[in-house]
Amino acid sequence: MQVPPTHSTEQAWLAAIVAHSEDAIIAKNLEGVVTGWNAAAERLFGHSSAEMLGRPLTVIFPANRLHEETVILERIARGERVEPYDTERQHKNGRIFPVSVTVSPIRGADGNLVGASNITRDLTEREAHERRVRELQSELVHVQRLSELGQFVSALVHEVNQPLTAITNYLNACRRLAATGNLPAIVTALERVGDQTQRMRDVVQRIRDFVKKRDIELRAENLAEVVSEAVELTRDSARGEDFNVTTDVQPGLRVEVDRVQVQQVLFNILRNGIEAMQGRPKREISIAVQPSDSEMVQVSVADSGPGLSDEVQQRLFQPFVTTKPNGMGVGLSVCRTIIEAHGGRLWAESAGQEGAVFRFTLKASGQTRPSA
Ligand SMILES: Nc1ncnc2c1ncn2[C@@H]1O[C@H](COP(=O)(O)OP(=O)(O)OP(=O)(O)O)[C@@H](O)[C@H]1O
Ligand SMILES: [Mg+2]
Repeated sequence: MQVPPTHSTEQAWLAAIVAHSEDAIIAKNLEGVVTGWNAAAERLFGHSSAEMLGRPLTVIFPANRLHEETVILERIARGERVEPYDTERQHKNGRIFPVSVTVSPIRGADGNLVGASNITRDLTEREAHERRVRELQSELVHVQRLSELGQFVSALVHEVNQPLTAITNYLNACRRLAATGNLPAIVTALERVGDQTQRMRDVVQRIRDFVKKRDIELRAENLAEVVSEAVELTRDSARGEDFNVTTDVQPGLRVEVDRVQVQQVLFNILRNGIEAMQGRPKREISIAVQPSDSEMVQVSVADSGPGLSDEVQQRLFQPFVTTKPNGMGVGLSVCRTIIEAHGGRLWAESAGQEGAVFRFTLKASGQTRPSA
């Protein structure tokens, strides 16, 4: 690699750093032609130094990244540095992988710009690690949902069972009393039934309050980001399943949401879509956003599954209603609770053979309402 002629010890020192660097260090001239290619670059890209010297650096750019080099060379020509940024590069064998790139101008002894040094760090491992973390998160969300549900159900069973047993006892007593014609005693028993019914209503109300209040933290969030993270989370949990998700979300649109909870909603709806499309020739999900009224935006998730029969549609949001051998039948009822706690609505439409569409509304954040 060419290093501007300075002090010879310093030069040797620099050369040693370049030779032993873990990162690819590449020098190029102002036209982007490679003039230096260290050992790490050989390892990272699979091209030897002999192969690369004299060739344009764009050899290692995937086709959809070629425009980056034009911008980089323009900045270098102005003497500016390109701060580390995440992008992708291509190995000789065609594999495209994630990298972080930093580019700094190189000046000759006379101070004139002569080219640029390019430091490229391989992010493959970091991304694999991040993916693993996201996978764990999505597992966690699922497990957490199941265990919360277990607690919820046993509390419900316990609290509702007691008044139910009491009601049954009072009604049996009424039947016996009816035979004796003891009207005042019957009225008392019926009043007790009324008390117990009220007790059950209180239990249900408490559960409803509990579900509503639970950790909801509304913030103005960027909807496109919330959606794309949820899609990633779903993809990670559906490894090995082949499907395509397209999203069309106005960039910069902000909504008032609890990010994690809305991601849980998207995750459940997307999972249902993926499960519904299994074994079908076309497996496409499209997510879109449109203004709903002056305060709300509507998110739609459409799949190319078999759609919803009338029978399924009627009971879609009831807990524990499932058509799947391993389903719990709670996904959509959890989704509806979450969306309603956000002040929105969730509903489904079937497009017959064209698949199912789930729609929900969210409150747009004050400053950036979408134009209707
Ligand atoms: N996109 C869809 N296409 C067709 N049917 C669907 C779709 N989404 C949901 N359903 C139907 O609605 C039922 C209820 O869905 P829900 O998500 O509440 O429970 P589940 O997916 O069966 O189980 P889980 O608790 O694991 O989510 C499903 O079993 C399925 O029959
Ligand atoms: Mg589900």
